[in-house]
Amino acid sequence: MHVGILTGGGDCPGLNAVIRAVTLALQRECGARVTGIERGFHGLMTRRVRPLAPADVAGILAEGGTILGTHNSCDPFRWQGADHSAEALAFARELGLDALVAIGGDGTMDIAHRIHRLGLPVVGVPKTIDNDLPLTDRTFGFDSAVAVVAEALDRLATTARSHGRVMIAETMGRYAGWIALEGGIAGGADVILIPERGFEVAELAALCRTREQGPEGHTLVCIAEGAKLDGGLTVKDRVAGSPDPLRLGGVGHALQQQLQPLVDSEVRTTLLGHVQRGGTPTAFDRVLATRFGFAAAQLVRRGEFGRMVALQGDACTSVPLDQVAGRSRPVPDEHPLVQTARATGIWMG
Ligand code: F6P
Repeated sequence: MHVGILTGGGDCPGLNAVIRAVTLALQRECGARVTGIERGFHGLMTRRVRPLAPADVAGILAEGGTILGTHNSCDPFRWQGADHSAEALAFARELGLDALVAIGGDGTMDIAHRIHRLGLPVVGVPKTIDNDLPLTDRTFGFDSAVAVVAEALDRLATTARSHGRVMIAETMGRYAGWIALEGGIAGGADVILIPERGFEVAELAALCRTREQGPEGHTLVCIAEGAKLDGGLTVKDRVAGSPDPLRLGGVGHALQQQLQPLVDSEVRTTLLGHVQRGGTPTAFDRVLATRFGFAAAQLVRRGEFGRMVALQGDACTSVPLDQVAGRSRPVPDEHPLVQTARATGIWMG
């Protein structure tokens, strides 16, 4: 058996742990040959591959990023204005691939599903710091991002307290608020603002004023990059030709501009950015990524294709790719974490 593996979309901690687990499990349990495809689906079009033997994946468990490289805007079905999927598929056939393991977020799962329907058997593995893929309770990478946010908030809280300031920390997460919500709870935020819930700046200002005059003296705000200010998204950039052309960012600074005239204390903003995506995975993500890699190898061995590995409760299972492709998972209105946040005094708009 010959299995290809690729990592698509933005990177995140734990990708190497999956590559390692898939490679080791397939080679140890059925002697399969594994080939790494470089830079996601781009490598299938540009014919960039490399063999993966156990020695090639030794020592990468805790390494951030991806040894295969990735590409966050390459869709073979619409690449530089044309459909290159036939070439990508022809190259996979030339390599003699019996199956492809595609590790990625919603964009990658969507492409993987379409490639699968063209005839290359695919298994998907859900990655993203955003934790916004449907039908899985967790994606690997999320826990590592939350740990970064929590540590940042711990640090911002002490300086906020010293100066009696309003400190705003902006997280990633795209159109979902999971990182800000879990990171904010873990880091003791006083305010958490997420895309799924609207808020009024005037009400937030009133809260900050009450706190600056009260015993607290300061306010720690954790805002997701997709949170809507004046009902709209704050877009930093547009990437032409990308399946996901909007680059979000800057809502924290925009909020600061609106909030500052309404409060007495100074307002400062920290944009956490790609720090949330880099570096070593947490122990939880290393284990989850390894479980996902093993589960993907099992699906390949059993010939269960067109499916994505998923974590439901504590069980590692799988779901049909067609129920994942093109969908996302926003924070539900009355999710237990939202209830927990509100019940412990966190203002969420
Ligand atoms: O999807 C992961 C993510 O980190 C989002 O949270 C963020 O909006 C986006 O990717 C950033 O993408 P880029 O690395 O292209 O700036």
